Amino acid sequence: MDSAISAQSDKITPRLSAPKINMKNYSLEFDALVKSRRSTRKYNGKLPSDAVLASVIAAGRYAPSGFNSQGTHIIVVKTPAIIASFNTALTAILKIVPLSEKTPPMLAGLVKQAQTAEISVTYGAPVVILVASKTGYVNAVKDTSCVMENMQLAATANCIGSCWINFFGMFGNAAPLKAIYESIGLQKDEEVQAALVLGESDDIATTSILRENGNPVTFA
Ligand SMILES: Cc1cc2nc3c(=O)[nH]c(=O)nc-3n(C[C@H](O)[C@H](O)[C@H](O)COP(=O)(O)O)c2cc1C
Repeated sequence: MDSAISAQSDKITPRLSAPKINMKNYSLEFDALVKSRRSTRKYNGKLPSDAVLASVIAAGRYAPSGFNSQGTHIIVVKTPAIIASFNTALTAILKIVPLSEKTPPMLAGLVKQAQTAEISVTYGAPVVILVASKTGYVNAVKDTSCVMENMQLAATANCIGSCWINFFGMFGNAAPLKAIYESIGLQKDEEVQAALVLGESDDIATTSILRENGNPVTFA
């Protein structure tokens, strides 16, 4: 297991004393990076290299956190059998989700599919990264979202596809999923908030930029 992946068990080193970075040496091309990040839903099965994976994980670990708590737990899953077990567990969970008029159409569609066959919510991606927080922590969702976005941008910067998958957090406390999480390192006082699938994709080179038509802005 490489050092970045086992880093969760390291003591967290405060970054306040880290050497200062001369920002002039960086060519961030930030605008292009942000605009070219898109959700990837087709993977070619190839694992990202260890160096790329380490870069994505490092980006997550450098995310800001409330009170600088750096308490988000990143669990990196590369084992195909474990990823398959996620999909089996999520199929079992989804097929008994009660449907109502308020159920989002995408979720309703998946529930109906799960009632007839095993489904995959991971799009064939070879890596699933679970992002967990302490249960009930006041900044749980905010901190994990910062980690998620940093990792997605790092994946994009490394020409790796990624996609946030809701169901891992949404149904994270359901028995079959929780049992898998705990068997791969989730602590008893933690809960999975979010999950990112990632991997190489042949679609990345041709991804188009999303039109900016939402997220209204008000100046005052
Ligand atoms: C909180 C959150 C949950 C999401 N859950 C899913 C999901 O379960 N499955 C999926 O295919 N995409 C999921 N997405 C991706 C969004 O559908 C996607 O970000 C959105 O359509 C905009 O497209 P873009 O990411 O390509 O810019 C999620 C995104 C966010 C931020």
